Amino acid sequence: MTNEWWRDAVIYQVYVRSFADSDGDGVGDLPGVRSRLPYLADLGVDAVWLTPFYSSPMADGGYDVADYRSVDPLFGNLNDAACLIGDAHELGLRVIVDIVPNHTSDQHEWFRKDLRDRYVFRPGRGENPPNDWQSVFGGPAWTRTGDGDWYLHLFAPEQPDLNWDNPDVRAEFLDILRFWLDLGVDGFRVDVAHGMVKAEGLPDVGRADQGEMLGTEPLPYFDQDGVHEIYREWRRVLDEYPGDRMAVAEAWAPTEERTALYVRPDELHQAFNFHFLKADWDAADMRSVVERTLATGAPATWVLSNHDVQRHVTRYGGGETGRRRARAAALLMLALPGSAYVYQGEELGLPEVLDLPDEVRRDPKWLRSSHRTAERSEAIEHCERPPASGLTSTEAPARGTSPGASARRREDAGLRPRTAERSEAMDTERSEAIQHSRDGCRVPIPGVSTGPSLGFGDGPGWLPQPEDWAKLSVAEQRSSPESMFSLYRTVLRLRRALPFGDFAWVDLPGDVLGFRRGEFHCVVNFGTSVARLVDPGRVLVASSYYGLDAGEVLLPPDTALWWA
Ligand code: GLC
Ligand code: MG
Repeated sequence: MTNEWWRDAVIYQVYVRSFADSDGDGVGDLPGVRSRLPYLADLGVDAVWLTPFYSSPMADGGYDVADYRSVDPLFGNLNDAACLIGDAHELGLRVIVDIVPNHTSDQHEWFRKDLRDRYVFRPGRGENPPNDWQSVFGGPAWTRTGDGDWYLHLFAPEQPDLNWDNPDVRAEFLDILRFWLDLGVDGFRVDVAHGMVKAEGLPDVGRADQGEMLGTEPLPYFDQDGVHEIYREWRRVLDEYPGDRMAVAEAWAPTEERTALYVRPDELHQAFNFHFLKADWDAADMRSVVERTLATGAPATWVLSNHDVQRHVTRYGGGETGRRRARAAALLMLALPGSAYVYQGEELGLPEVLDLPDEVRRDPKWLRSSHRTAERSEAIEHCERPPASGLTSTEAPARGTSPGASARRREDAGLRPRTAERSEAMDTERSEAIQHSRDGCRVPIPGVSTGPSLGFGDGPGWLPQPEDWAKLSVAEQRSSPESMFSLYRTVLRLRRALPFGDFAWVDLPGDVLGFRRGEFHCVVNFGTSVARLVDPGRVLVASSYYGLDAGEVLLPPDTALWWA
């Protein structure tokens, strides 16, 4: 029987490393996730997406997979995965796992055996790389091998891109899909789903600011038409299995129309709506994204945060304002037709952690940022040894090579101080690098208000939590009806029970966005002054306090309301 459960599902993203640590080694793991499944069932989500837990040297937090069919000992073993899936199903939760088809780890058997036809190797242009492509993490997308040829890595050098023109690569991934489907997973989140096929001849982009073009403009290495053939093949495999197995694409495509191509009826089921995630806190912006998305007619998949972007409490202004807006955004997202993804900690209103010490940061995007490059070249200027660099790894993560350490060495050595100008430029670069570094949204989740990692595990977590996170812990919030946690829990319950009808905009004055779905209404005040609306009848839930005055509702700024 088919019920297409994913169409309106709320799916909770577990970043496994940072969710719950069962063995006190500071890293979240599968038994940890398993122990918290009742929490997720009680919160009221329909499914869980687990980020990669496969064998990996962890150059990119597990998105560098060395063996797609085994669990890294850091996270547990295959039996833990099977038990987790079994427990989840008993609790009525579906389980989605990540699949990483654009690249492997450089420690994958194929790369170690130098099977070059399965990767993208090319001769250089003289001493230069084969083309001008830049890595998403910074620097050229090519690394030179000992014999002079270069290999492509759109991400870190430890993540060589696979050659999807090779039928062996295609066959291998069909088999990997089957492996996890046989184990009982309900679906896949497809990493860099827009990446596998590259434009014929690997043409230059012709511009240096490629990082800023991601998801907004065409690029020869992303969103090529050829990827769709791969998904048609994958869909046939998913459809061989009973129980509505599905897949969601992480595809940063330039427009909503291009994103919709990934979810044609014979391809994948969902694609994250990153245009929604990127929209400013602004009525017109939000309305236009929602309008363009719904106009495609494809299934909509809303998302506000994930493990790669700044948490939305902070993105929307931080502090009290950020929290108010995040509460209103939750009501907006969960009222829209389609499915929604909730990133772990979003239900606690966690902000981005912006002040992590440099030496604990692990994100390759930070380690390869231009700030770090500047630090490195300065170190070289002063005849310090640059971090060890081998064939495929430019540096080991945070082992005495942090910028902080290099600054201290500079001072110890009595070297000439930086000029004020240079210092200021480096500070600006540093704060930009921190804005883009992804460790700040990956800090372990606080479960209780005491202990070395606030209930994440028995010891300290792999990233330190800010002191004031004790009051944001699950235990603290559970008992307060006004907490973010209680809001999510209430809203998720209501969403399940409501008989949503057809979507239609309700035009309201000023910066108030309003829409209905049958009898159900949602309004959000994006403006800076209190809006007066005609009393709607029965209010179901409000994101913050609102007033009533002579048959009118007074809706304060950054507040959303549901009524039916
Ligand atoms: C995706 C993941 C991100 C990872 C990258 C490379 O964007 O979400 O965390 O670094 O792919 O695999
Ligand atoms: Mg652990």
